[in-house]
Amino acid sequence: MRAIRLNEVGGPEKLHVEDVPKPVPGPGEILVKIKRAAFNRRDVFITQGLYPGIKVPVTPGSDGCGEVAAHGAGVGNPPVGTPVVINPEIGWDDDPFTLTANASIVGMPTDGTFAEYVVVPAQNVYRKPALLSDDEAAAIPLGGMTAYRAAFTRGQLAKDDIVLIPGVGSGVQTFVLLYAVHAGARTIVTSGSDEKLARAKALGASEGINYKTDLDWHKSARKLSSGGPTLVVDCNGGEVLSRCLDIARYGARVAIYGGTNGDAKIRPYSIFWKHLSVLGSSMGSPADFAAMLKLFESGLKPVVDRVYPMDEVVAAAEHVLKGDQMGKVVLAIS
Ligand SMILES: NC(=O)c1ccc[n+]([C@@H]2O[C@H](COP(=O)([O-])OP(=O)(O)OC[C@H]3O[C@@H](n4cnc5c(N)ncnc54)[C@H](OP(=O)(O)O)[C@@H]3O)[C@@H](O)[C@H]2O)c1
Repeated sequence: MRAIRLNEVGGPEKLHVEDVPKPVPGPGEILVKIKRAAFNRRDVFITQGLYPGIKVPVTPGSDGCGEVAAHGAGVGNPPVGTPVVINPEIGWDDDPFTLTANASIVGMPTDGTFAEYVVVPAQNVYRKPALLSDDEAAAIPLGGMTAYRAAFTRGQLAKDDIVLIPGVGSGVQTFVLLYAVHAGARTIVTSGSDEKLARAKALGASEGINYKTDLDWHKSARKLSSGGPTLVVDCNGGEVLSRCLDIARYGARVAIYGGTNGDAKIRPYSIFWKHLSVLGSSMGSPADFAAMLKLFESGLKPVVDRVYPMDEVVAAAEHVLKGDQMGKVVLAIS
């Protein structure tokens, strides 16, 4: 089969399409024939060596949709040919908070979805939401689940919230916007691009602030929300997080699932004086994944930025690296 391989770290240009043996599902596993895969920043971080526990060679890719191609011993469902999406979080059992000691994410260290076939545990295979195209279905797993858990399970997102979403161009943050709009909440988004702000408005964002031209964007967000957001969902960390904590409303929730810009200097006063709840969140439980799929079964659509052919993987990865995208970057595998 054809697979996108990373044989050494060194950036996106180290990704190559190669012929490798088709994997065989073991007991309790399913072989999925991949139609579409999608990028997460994690895949680019891995090419750069900026991820813990990197092992090469590997086929990257956490997001994928396709159809069931074969069953390992002890597995009978879903039947061969069923359209499916893959939950990339392996090893999260019934505990709502804890990953097991053997937890991992599809695409590192195990081979991932940037290939014509991938083997995953049977419990990670879910029926594809019928209303989504293959491109859309491939776009939702990792980002959609991470955003779902941060916004709903941890952040308790609800209709009356004023939600601050910094860096809405991020794949995951775009899902947070979709969910907040779907829930009927008011949303304030930031982006470094006027074009992305316009797209966010078209998706239903109430207010947009360009953090590159409005250097006091946090003060603008406080003003627009008449006293601060009631919910912040952040993946930027660094100074972005510090400012969010400083302007969050009394009693607000601040859900954090990433730290693209590194460590944050935090004023304890901002947290204790305002009774803020700071909530860590990462990936999602099987229950989060199933609940997230239900939203997309009811007609919600993810944002697909661009679809690249498999052979143009380097250009696709560089597009993600530059942060030019709004929503998800998809790879057409077959
Ligand atoms: N813990 C988890 O389970 C989990 C899961 C997925 C992702 N993550 C983490 O979440 C982060 C985002 O992931 P992703 O895949 O969504 O990345 P991505 O699509 O590459 O998003 C990058 C975006 O971050 C925004 N950004 C960067 N610097 C900013 C700043 N100073 N102020 C505001 N926004 C800024 C930019 O948005 P604009 O273009 O709009 O300016 C940029 O486009 C990464 O750190 C990733 O590792 C964690």
